Amino acid sequence: MHTEKEEVLSNIGSYEKRCDGFDWGVSKEILSWKDGELLNIGAICSDRVCARGWGDKPALVWEGFGDKKRTYTFDDLKLHSNGFAKLLVDIGIEPGDRVCVFMDRIPSLYFSFLGILKMGGVAQPLFCAFGDESLEVRLASAGTRAILTTQKHVKKVRKIKDRLPALEHVIVVEGDRSKLKDGEGFFHVESADRVEEFDVFPADPETPSVLHYTSGTTGQPKGAQHVHDSIWGQALTTSWVLDLRDDDVYWCTADPGWVTGTSYGIIGPWSLGVTQCVLDSGFTSARWYQFIQDHRVTVWYSAPTAIRSLMRDGEELAGKYDLKSLRHLASVGEPLNAEAVVWSERAYGLPFHDTFWQTETGSIMIANYPGMEIRPGSMGRPFPGIEAGLLDLKTHEELTEPGKVGLIAFRPGWPSMFRAYRGEPEKYRGRFVGARADATPDELRTDTGLWYVSGDRSSIDQDGYYWFVGRDDDVINTGGHLVGPFEIESALVEHEAIAEAAAIGKPDEVNMEVVKVFVTLNAGYEPSGDLELAIMNFIRKRLSPLAMPQEIEYVEKLPKTRSGKILRRYLRALEWGEDVGDLSTLEDD
Ligand code: PRX
Repeated sequence: MHTEKEEVLSNIGSYEKRCDGFDWGVSKEILSWKDGELLNIGAICSDRVCARGWGDKPALVWEGFGDKKRTYTFDDLKLHSNGFAKLLVDIGIEPGDRVCVFMDRIPSLYFSFLGILKMGGVAQPLFCAFGDESLEVRLASAGTRAILTTQKHVKKVRKIKDRLPALEHVIVVEGDRSKLKDGEGFFHVESADRVEEFDVFPADPETPSVLHYTSGTTGQPKGAQHVHDSIWGQALTTSWVLDLRDDDVYWCTADPGWVTGTSYGIIGPWSLGVTQCVLDSGFTSARWYQFIQDHRVTVWYSAPTAIRSLMRDGEELAGKYDLKSLRHLASVGEPLNAEAVVWSERAYGLPFHDTFWQTETGSIMIANYPGMEIRPGSMGRPFPGIEAGLLDLKTHEELTEPGKVGLIAFRPGWPSMFRAYRGEPEKYRGRFVGARADATPDELRTDTGLWYVSGDRSSIDQDGYYWFVGRDDDVINTGGHLVGPFEIESALVEHEAIAEAAAIGKPDEVNMEVVKVFVTLNAGYEPSGDLELAIMNFIRKRLSPLAMPQEIEYVEKLPKTRSGKILRRYLRALEWGEDVGDLSTLEDD
C-alpha cells in the first residue's frame, strides 16, 4: 500500500525535483497546449476542456440558500459563457472594455466571468456586499462600461450611475424583469437562445484579462491588472500546490470578488478540467461539513478565519459527518496559526497546508508543498521557479542570515504577476526595488535583477521555510480580506458628526483583526450608543460589512505627525500592547 507521501510524489514529484531546472513551459505541457494555439483563459477553462472529451463532466456543482442545487457540465459552461460573450458583443462591448461582475456566487457569475474573457473584455469582479461608495470608487477608477448584476444588488448601481459617465450598460441577470428601470437590460442566460459556437477573441499573452481592486495604506484602492498569460502560473500552482487531479472534487471557499476566488475558484481548476463545488450560502460549520459530505469533496482550499470558526465548534461536530473523502487541505489569506494545523490533523486526519500570495502576484508564491514536511505556523517554501528573498526593512539589501526579519520580495518574471495598477504607473513602479525612475512596465515585469516587494514581513529559517511576522503597512486584514484605513477614514468624515478619524485593525480571535476607529466629534455632537450604531451602519452601507467598525473610540484629539498626518501606527501599537517605541521616529512622515 502506498503512503500518502508516496502517492503525492508519484503524482507531482518532490519539491526538490520540481525546483531542479524548473521552466514555466511545464505548465503548457500539463495543459497539452502547443505554441500557436488559441490563448484565451475563458476558452481554456471551458471549450478546451470539452474538446478533450470532458463535455459531460460536471464543472460546477452549486448550492445556494434555501436548498437550491444545480450541476452544470463543461458543455454547459461552454454554452453559457458563449451566451454572455455574445450578449456583450451584441450590445457593443469591445475587447479591452471593463465589464464588472457584481453578484452573489450564483452560476451566472461564473458563466459571465468566462464569457467576458472569451470576447476579449476585462473581467472586473467586485464583492457584492460592497456598498455604493466602494462600488463607485472602483467603477470610476476602471472606467467600467458595463455591469452585470442581479435585482438584489442593482439598487446600489442606480444610486451611483449618474456619476459614472463611462457606465453605459446595466444588465440584470437574475430576478424579476418587470422591476427594471428604464435603460436597464435583462439577460437570463439559461432561458436565452443557445449559442453553440462563439468566435473567441485570440488573446496575446499580454492582453488584459482580470482587474482586481485591492486596498493599500494610502489613497483609494488600486486596480491590479492581470493578463491572459497568467493562466500558466495559475494552472501549474493549482496542479502542484493544490495537488488537483482529474477525478478530484474541489471546493474553494473564496468569493470571486477576491483574487483567491478567481485564480483558484475559477481559472486554475477549470483550466485543468476539475469539478468545482460552490456553496453560496452563509457560513455555519454544520452546513460546510454537510456540503463536503454530500459532494464527496476531496480537495479543500479555505482561509484561517473559517478554520478558526470550525475549530471553535469543535472536533465532535466534525466527527458527526463523513469527511473521509477529503484528501488535501490548503489555506490562504492570513497567518495560519500552528494550532489550526495541528487541530485539523486531529479533526480531519489531514493538516491544512498554508500558502502565501497576493492579489498582485496572481498565483501562489510560497507554499507548504504537498509531500514536503509541514512546519506548523510556517508558510512553507517558495514555489519552484519563484525566486524569493527577504530585504532589510530600511536599506532593502537582501538578508541572508536565518531568523532575521525582512520584507518578503520576489524576482519579477512569473506569468501571473500583475502588469499594472490601473492608471497609476508610479505606484506600480514603487513596488519594485532597484527600478530606474524611467523603467517601463514591461521592463519592470521582466527585469530579474529587481525585487517586487510584497509589503509583508517574515523571517526564513535555516531550511528556507518562511515564517510570517506581519504587514509592513497599515492595511487591515479582517478574515483574510484587506481593508484600506484611508477608505474608512474618508467615509467616516463624511458623517455629519465626525470631524477627524483614524482606522486601525484590532486583534480578534477569529478574524485575526477587526476594524476599530478613533474619532473626534464636531461641535454639538456627544458620544452615545445611538451615534455609535449610526456610524457603524453608515460605514456598513457605504463601504461593506467588512469595513464596518466593531469598536468606536471617541477621543478629544488624534495623535499626529508634525506635518499633520494621523499616526495610525501609534494607535495600533497601543491597541496591540506593543512597544510604542520612540515617538520621534513615529513622527517621521
Ligand atoms: O498580508 C498578506 C496576507 O494577505 C495579503 C494579500 O491579500 P490579498 O491581496 O487580498 O490576497 C489574498 C489572497 C491571496 C498579503 O500581503 N496573506 C496572504 N496569505 C497569507 C497572508 N498572511 C499570512 N499568511 C499567509 N499565508
